[in-house]
Amino acid sequence: MNKPRDLKQLDANSILHPSTNAHEFAKSGSRIMQSGEGVYLHDTDGNKLIDAVAGLWCVNVGYGRKELADAMHNAACDMGYYHTFTGMSNIPQIELADRLLELAPNNMSKVFFASGGSDGNDSLMKIVWYYHNLIGKPQKRKIISRWQAYHGTSIATASLTGLPSFHKDFNLPIDGVVHTESPDYFRHAKDNETELEFSKRRASELEALILEHDPETVGAFIAEPVMGAGGVITPPEGYFAEIQKVTKKYDILFIADEVVCGYGRLGKWWGSEVYGIEPDMITTAKALTSGYFPFSASFITEEIWDVVKQGSEKYGSFAHGYTYAGHPIGAAVAMANIDIIEQEGLVEQSALNGQYFHDQLARAVSEKAYVGQIRGQGMLAAVQLMQDSSSKTFFPASTKIAPQVTAECYKNGLIARPLPSVDSVAFSPPLIASKQEIDQIVDIFSFSVEKIMAAL
Ligand SMILES: Cc1ncc(COP(=O)(O)O)c(C=O)c1O
Repeated sequence: MNKPRDLKQLDANSILHPSTNAHEFAKSGSRIMQSGEGVYLHDTDGNKLIDAVAGLWCVNVGYGRKELADAMHNAACDMGYYHTFTGMSNIPQIELADRLLELAPNNMSKVFFASGGSDGNDSLMKIVWYYHNLIGKPQKRKIISRWQAYHGTSIATASLTGLPSFHKDFNLPIDGVVHTESPDYFRHAKDNETELEFSKRRASELEALILEHDPETVGAFIAEPVMGAGGVITPPEGYFAEIQKVTKKYDILFIADEVVCGYGRLGKWWGSEVYGIEPDMITTAKALTSGYFPFSASFITEEIWDVVKQGSEKYGSFAHGYTYAGHPIGAAVAMANIDIIEQEGLVEQSALNGQYFHDQLARAVSEKAYVGQIRGQGMLAAVQLMQDSSSKTFFPASTKIAPQVTAECYKNGLIARPLPSVDSVAFSPPLIASKQEIDQIVDIFSFSVEKIMAAL
């Protein structure tokens, strides 16, 4: 068996890592995770770490859950795989679809399964085009996303993503994707502008953008209820109510990207519920299987389904789908995962412990001059770091403050997520985290951030 050192060398020799700085990685090498239980992980250097990010905001029921392993094992023993093209099906996906439609917000009618958030959103983007072509509005094909959004990294969804580093030199965004301003009140509000005034301004800017492009060319608007990778940006007061007045006025479909927010992260099942969003389409992934199996579920309303059916009258089959759509092992894992969420009351726990987490973070660091804001909802939080919060002075980009702080956290046994584009440190612990574990996260974070700030 390879020793850890050998594995790091092999890794460096062989893997193109996603979202990793190729130069820095060559110097520092990888961190190799080996095992986990509950909220803890063990790496091959012998560190025990508390994972305050839940992998990539997904391991909501925690690591090493035997129930999920058993579900996987059983589904693999039962059959392992069969496709779902041409009307073929399997028992786990049927049971899961029925259960998800009961849970989903806003009366969704059908679910489309895929393997992740990117292909879920990609599929919905294609369905937007298909829908508008079939109802005789072929020009209505532009999709409006927001700066700071994250919707994936496929060609179409990286285009929707509103973070410039995902576009530069990739020849993106593609034609037909347009970005409106972000809901980041902290960064973009004018002096003395209230949250509601800011929300109204964002809605009128959206309307101006739609008019500039011609409403007859705009097919859909996509938004995360709370922006994740773009900074854990919660919508300011009234934001989605104002935005939906505009989307409804111009017959623009609303896609809610619940890939991070769905399945209890915000203290309710859905972000759409928290913020009064009435989506026509929804993408969910990540916490659907707590990350144990690549699996996503995208939803459409009855109205859209009716048009998809008309498509089949015209063309025969709905010519879209993936080899692994509705994978029986993924569906079985999702069922077992939802069992855990329900039996352990994790959505309610997310609301209660989320409040506790925010209170403890506030108690520990909100008075520090280097903390500009603590934001988030439920078990999703971010701390905004600043050179001086009283004068609202940001750090120069070269300080790379968020990665410095999270590297120090790691040394002290905590995984927190740097969001360098907004100088913030994000937290999305597994929903099973106890109050004591939340205390541990807050203690290590406050100790680590203090140390980095003192050394600057
Ligand atoms: C809100 C949101 N949408 C979509 C995606 C893309 O999901 P995936 O990485 O599974 O393709 C992500 C991933 O982080 C996400 O946060």
